[in-house]
Amino acid sequence: MQSHFLEWNPELSVDNESLDKQHRELFRIINTILDSEGIEVQSEEFAEILTRLTNYVLKHFKDEEAYMHQIGYPKLKEHALEHKDYSRKVAMYNVGTMDRDPSLPANLSSFLQDWWLDHVKVSDQEYRRYAGNSGNSGT
Ligand SMILES: [Fe+2]
Repeated sequence: MQSHFLEWNPELSVDNESLDKQHRELFRIINTILDSEGIEVQSEEFAEILTRLTNYVLKHFKDEEAYMHQIGYPKLKEHALEHKDYSRKVAMYNVGTMDRDPSLPANLSSFLQDWWLDHVKVSDQEYRRYAGNSGNSGT
C-alpha cells in the first residue's frame, strides 16, 4: 500500500541540510518496517530493523537538540520532552517484542508513521520558523 508510506517532501524541510538528510533516512528505515507486513515479531530481521531505527533515532534526537540549543530555541525543553516520550513509547513496544505479541509489528508501524509525520510536520517546523525569524540558522 504505497500511499501509506512515509514520503519526505520539501515542505517538511527544517532548513538544515544535515537534519533534513536524517529525516529522509528515518523515513526510509520506517518504510522498511511498513513494508514488512506479516513479519515475525521474534524474527532476527525484525529485531535488526528495530535496532537500526533505535540507534539512528538516538543520534538524530541528539543532533537535533544540539541544533536547537545552538540557535537558542526557547521551546527546546518541550521539544526534548516529545523526543523522550517517543523513546518511552518505543521502549514499550520493545517489551511487546519480548512478549512475542503478534500484532506488534502492525501496531508499531502505525505508531511510527503517525508520530514521525506529525512530529516533522508540526514540532520540527516550529524550530525552523524560529531560526528563520530570528535570523539565526546556526550556520
Ligand atoms: Fe524533533
